[in-house]
Amino acid sequence: MTFMALRRLTLSRRLWRLSGVPAVGFRGTKTSTMGVTEQHFEEAKEKLSSLKKDPGNDVKLKIYALFKQATRGPCDTPKPGMLDFINKAKWDSWKSLGSITQDEARQQYCDLIGSLVAAEDGGSARESAGAGAGVGPRAYDSLLVSTEDDITTITLNRPAKKNAITTQMYEEIIEALQEAARGPSVVTVFTGAGDFYCSGNDLSNFTKIPEGGVEQMAKAGGELLRKFVKAFIDFPKPLAAAVNGPAVGISVTVMGMFDLVYASERATFHTPFSQLGQSPEGCSSYTFPRIMGFSKANEMLLFNKKLTAVQACQLGLVTEVFPDSSFRTEAWSRLRSYAKLPPDSLALSKQLIRSVEKERLHAVNDAEVERLMERWTSDECFNAVMDFFRSKAKL
Ligand code: COA
Repeated sequence: MTFMALRRLTLSRRLWRLSGVPAVGFRGTKTSTMGVTEQHFEEAKEKLSSLKKDPGNDVKLKIYALFKQATRGPCDTPKPGMLDFINKAKWDSWKSLGSITQDEARQQYCDLIGSLVAAEDGGSARESAGAGAGVGPRAYDSLLVSTEDDITTITLNRPAKKNAITTQMYEEIIEALQEAARGPSVVTVFTGAGDFYCSGNDLSNFTKIPEGGVEQMAKAGGELLRKFVKAFIDFPKPLAAAVNGPAVGISVTVMGMFDLVYASERATFHTPFSQLGQSPEGCSSYTFPRIMGFSKANEMLLFNKKLTAVQACQLGLVTEVFPDSSFRTEAWSRLRSYAKLPPDSLALSKQLIRSVEKERLHAVNDAEVERLMERWTSDECFNAVMDFFRSKAKL
C-alpha cells in the first residue's frame, strides 16, 4: 500500500497522542544553548493538546516525526514491516527528517504547533468578527510561518521533495511576504525544513499542461513568477535567508534581493538554467553580475557552476558561513539581536539602499519573465524536464 493510500486511512488516536508525548522531559525555564528555549518547547507541547481541530494525518505524522527527532535525534530504529501500516508511516516520516539537528527539530516543532494555533485563533477571530479573509494570521500548506522575538520566520516545508516550489507554494510565499510586510515583525527570515534549503522550481509544474496547451501553461507560469519576484523587490523591511543546506534555482537567484544571507557550511548554491534549457530569473541576470562581476556570474548563470558556501561568501552572495553544528544557534542569535534595532530606522535605511534599483529590478523581472515564457515552450526545456523525471523513474 502506498503512502497516499495510507493517508486515506484514519490513523489511530494513539498516533495523535504520541505526537505530543513528553518522552523526554525538558524542565525549567532557562535558555538552553539551543535556539529554542526549553520553555518554548514545553509550551508547544501544551498548546498541541489544546488544539480543538484535528489537523489531519499528514500534519500529525509530521508532528510525531519532529517530536522524535527533537527528543531522540535521527531515526535509529529498524524499519517496520510493510503490513505494519501505521508504524511504517510514522517511521517514514521520522526518517524523512534525515540528519537535521535536535535543535532544528525543536524549532520546527514549535513553529508547526505555533502555525496550527495561529490558524485556529485566526479562524475563530474571523468567525466572531463575522469578517471575511484578510484578518488574523493564516495557516499555510507548504510553509511554516511564525513570528517570535520580532522575527517572522518563513520555513519552506516540503522536506520529502527537498522543498521544491510548487505553484501553490509560490502563491503562499507571496502571501506570507505580504503578511510579514503588514505585520509588526522587524526582520523576516527564509529557511528550509529538512536537509535542503530548497531545490528550486518543482519541475512537475511543467508536466501539468492545461487545456490551452503549453503556451497557456507558460503564460500562467510567467505571470506567477512576475508576481513572486515582485514580492521580493517590493518587500519593505530587512529580509534574511538562513540557508541550512543546498539551494537550487530560484531560491538562489532571488538572494540578490536579500539584505543578509547566512549559510551553513553544508549549503551549496546552484543555478542549472542552461542544463534545463531555461534562462535566469529572480533578477539574477542583473544582481549577480553586480554582486560578483560578470566572469563569476557567468560561471553560475550560463555554465551551471555550483558554489560551496565559502565560495558564495567570497563572491559576496553570502554574508557569512557558520559551522553546520552551530548554524541555527549562531544565525538566530545574530538575527534576534538585529531585530532589536529601531524598526523604522532599519526599514527606511533598507528602502534607501534599494530605492535606486527598484525600477530597474522591475524592468529586469519583466524581461526575464518574457524570455522564460518562450524557453518553457522550447524543445530544449521539454527534453531536459523529461530527462529529469526519466532518471528518477529508473532509480
Ligand atoms: N522538482 C520536482 N521534484 C523534485 C525537485 C524539483 N526541483 N527536487 C527534488 N525533487 C524530488 C525528487 O524527484 C524526489 O522525489 P521522489 O522521492 O518522489 O523520487 C525527491 O524530491 C527527493 O529528491 P532526490 O532527487 O531523490 O534527492 P537527491 O538528494 O538525490 O537530489 C536534488 C536532490 C535537488 C539535487 C535533485 O533532486 C535535483 O537535481 N532536483 C532538480 C533540481 C532542479 O533542477 N531545480 C530547478 C532549478 S531551475
